[in-house]
Amino acid sequence: MLTRILLIVLIIGLGSAECEFSIMSFGDFNLTSEKQLKDIIKKENVFLLGLTSGDCQGCCESENFYQTLMETLDKYRPRIPFIRHNLQKSNFISKYIPEQDKLPAIYGVKKGTFFKYHDMQDSLKILRFADRLISPVFYMKNLTEVLEYLNPATGGFNSLKLLAVLDDSDLKQDYEKSVEKLGNWFTTEIRAIIDRNLIKELRKIRPDIGYNTLILIRQDDTKMTDILATENLYKWILNNCVGLVEELTPYNFQMYSTTTIPMIILFLDPKNHYHNNYIEEYKKSARKFEGKIRYSWLDATKPDYIEKRRRLGLVTEILPSIAFNVRNQIIYPYPEGMEFIEKNIDTFAQGYIDGKKSNQPTFYTPKDINLLSCKNLKYDDFEDVVYEEGVDVVLFLYTSHNHKDSEKFSNVFNKVCEKFTDLGYKSLEVYVYDNAVEKPYKTLPTGKFPRVLISPAYSKNDPLVVFNGEFNVEKIMKFVEKNADVQVVIPDENEDNKENMQEIKALEDTDGEVKGKEEL
Ligand SMILES: *[C@@H]1O[C@H](CO)[C@@H](O)[C@H](O)[C@H]1NC(C)=O
Ligand SMILES: *[C@@H]1O[C@H](CO)[C@@H](O)[C@H](O)[C@H]1NC(C)=O
Repeated sequence: MLTRILLIVLIIGLGSAECEFSIMSFGDFNLTSEKQLKDIIKKENVFLLGLTSGDCQGCCESENFYQTLMETLDKYRPRIPFIRHNLQKSNFISKYIPEQDKLPAIYGVKKGTFFKYHDMQDSLKILRFADRLISPVFYMKNLTEVLEYLNPATGGFNSLKLLAVLDDSDLKQDYEKSVEKLGNWFTTEIRAIIDRNLIKELRKIRPDIGYNTLILIRQDDTKMTDILATENLYKWILNNCVGLVEELTPYNFQMYSTTTIPMIILFLDPKNHYHNNYIEEYKKSARKFEGKIRYSWLDATKPDYIEKRRRLGLVTEILPSIAFNVRNQIIYPYPEGMEFIEKNIDTFAQGYIDGKKSNQPTFYTPKDINLLSCKNLKYDDFEDVVYEEGVDVVLFLYTSHNHKDSEKFSNVFNKVCEKFTDLGYKSLEVYVYDNAVEKPYKTLPTGKFPRVLISPAYSKNDPLVVFNGEFNVEKIMKFVEKNADVQVVIPDENEDNKENMQEIKALEDTDGEVKGKEEL
């Protein structure tokens, strides 16, 4: 018994030793009642609220951050109060916070409205966040600077800039209110001009800018809207802040997450030779769901995103792959291996709107597809095997996952392998490549399965030649015969005898062509 108590004491001791400080260690004061909260809201224009809980695992780890935060706040004027609250002690705060999720959390509170802060790592960012709450808009006074500001950022730096031209000073308050919620958009510049003379000067140079106009400057585009005619400025900003299909970056992630509309993520390899085709196909679908679903993409080859793909229900190596960025354990991935075309993407997106979701496993066990007569190619050997000069390489690209066509045509291809083994051409190699388990090599078109491709022996710099015919043994053999650089002769299916082969050879010898053989 004694040892058990000792053990428990030891465990508790170790548990708290993980954190340098216990929860609620830092803050200007501790919030304990609703009345107290109401008083602060009346007294302080803006304050920060740090929520934690006694029963939250790992919450104490954030105290070090709060220590730095307090030091940062002390250096800053006006001094923004940082108030602490332990949710385990009372629950009145939940009335004020619409969707309270993970703890610890920081909220900025302005005139009784709670704004969640999203980045828990950088104490300088939180200053910017608070600063945004205190004065959401920077008012510009200098024409040269305004003109400069209206130029889109160059040099690959992502940026978003807003400029409201407010001839009607009544609109000032509306504009400030509309941009208040953008406190977490740390890389966004929010500005305005209200000086009538300045507006006049500006309009001499830029007559396209109206008197009460909001201008949004993205790197790729500039949008304008008449403020008086725009019903909801905040929504207008959300709808225009990112392009139709954009790569998801730390810079625009806050923009995406501010929007309440669902988001899908396309994972692909930007180095893949078919990258642009896939993006184009995706964009076509995005146009149809504009305002309903946000389309974005990520570079799936970055190690950080491998885990993210798995979490969203994408279990194979197939790229491109798509999934909705849903939380709460719900997953809704695009069926991996399904042809990547506009129509299918539309159906998938509509499915989400219609309330579909799936419970796929989060790991993949390769299924057996009968391709026993074929040699299997691995990603690591791809370069050496497929790009070996002097060898024609034929490839059956398939997926063992979720794809009935791959299974259906595996028998056909198995026979192709058998035939080439029998023919025994030294200059010709035939392989199968399972994209459910092997990463897609950059030269492979992986938006459709199965595929037959050939890398001709002496055209290794050209794209692989893709077979487009009907999937039968004869047609595939003919395709190989036609595209191989080193001559191969395929005996005719029906008259598979030596005499026939000699005739074919004779024909080729005379005109060097294999065409017309079908008439034989
Ligand atoms: C807030 O409460 C914690 C313990 O729950 C205490 O250690 C801390 O000193 C309190 N802070 C203030 C400013 O009173
Ligand atoms: C406006 O800004 C530019 C560049 O920042 C500066 O050269 C100019 O003197 C300023 N003009 C006024 C009127 O302040």
